[in-house]
Amino acid sequence: MLRKIGILTSGGDSPGMNAAIRAVTRTALANGIEVVGIHDGYKGLVEGLYEPFNRHSVSETIAKGGTILGSARLPEFKEEAVQLKGVEKLKENQIDAVVVIGGDGTYRGADALTKLGVNCIALPGTIDNDIEGTDYTIGFDTALNTIVDCVDKLRDTSNSHHRCSVVEVMGNRCGDLAIYSGISCGAEILITPETGYDEEAVLEKLRYLENQGKNHAIVIVSEKVCDVKSLADKISRVTGFAGRATILGHIQRGGSPTPSDRVLASRMGAKAVELLVEGIGGHCVGIRNNEIVSMPIEECVGMPRSSRRRFYRLFDRLV
Ligand code: F6P
Repeated sequence: MLRKIGILTSGGDSPGMNAAIRAVTRTALANGIEVVGIHDGYKGLVEGLYEPFNRHSVSETIAKGGTILGSARLPEFKEEAVQLKGVEKLKENQIDAVVVIGGDGTYRGADALTKLGVNCIALPGTIDNDIEGTDYTIGFDTALNTIVDCVDKLRDTSNSHHRCSVVEVMGNRCGDLAIYSGISCGAEILITPETGYDEEAVLEKLRYLENQGKNHAIVIVSEKVCDVKSLADKISRVTGFAGRATILGHIQRGGSPTPSDRVLASRMGAKAVELLVEGIGGHCVGIRNNEIVSMPIEECVGMPRSSRRRFYRLFDRLV
């Protein structure tokens, strides 16, 4: 019998998490299920940072960035002793199931809790779009819009000054933010975990573009692939462009979610509760071809990321 569910957000926050919390809360209450907001991710789950939620707890949150529940990373949650402490706390508070919103690490935590007897449903909340089992994660679209807005502005000034802007975007070893923004902004060069980094090839391409009459260029780089400051300096030294590096950083994680993220989060949040009501736990929710679907978390965390080759081919064709 499902009487009470907990909800938490964990890992890096993403715009749209509040819309998901709201959808879970309101769908559960409409089904006669009590809701408890768990603050600060798995840390709060273990420490008992629980707050009973009613429908007003999530009022006026759909347009807010960040997460009203707070988030944290708790590497110790990999240890079974810590997980068992969490299970005990949930039992003490008569919480029968938990909906978690976050990325890969959050999914692993939910998988572990499910195996210890607590039904969990995981929702993909990360700007990185690096979760299998879904075409898009909650927050990706908003972060992409932020990047596109920033790069469009950088292009204006780099055009005026005959410069090459080297822009680092987030993604945590996934090139989706880079490839989608590269296509959207008409970037000249892309450096991602998928493309790899060949400094000489980048410089060669810039010289080629210069010879073709280009007076400015945009290079989009996924974080953790190369040092954008050194690359910009090298560009200034060995090409006709003046290189300038911009690291967009955490600005990509903030801001009011786009309508697309709000709708995605609302659909996924409602589905999480529907699954629990049907007696299904240990699943993660995704969107595939615009259908909301689910699959076992255990399967999802072990899957290799599907290929983005067609996007890279498109990028190459359009430069
Ligand atoms: O997973 C989201 C993300 O923003 C990644 O893109 C980035 O690598 C990481 O989190 C940054 O983490 P932190 O907020 O702990 O610096």
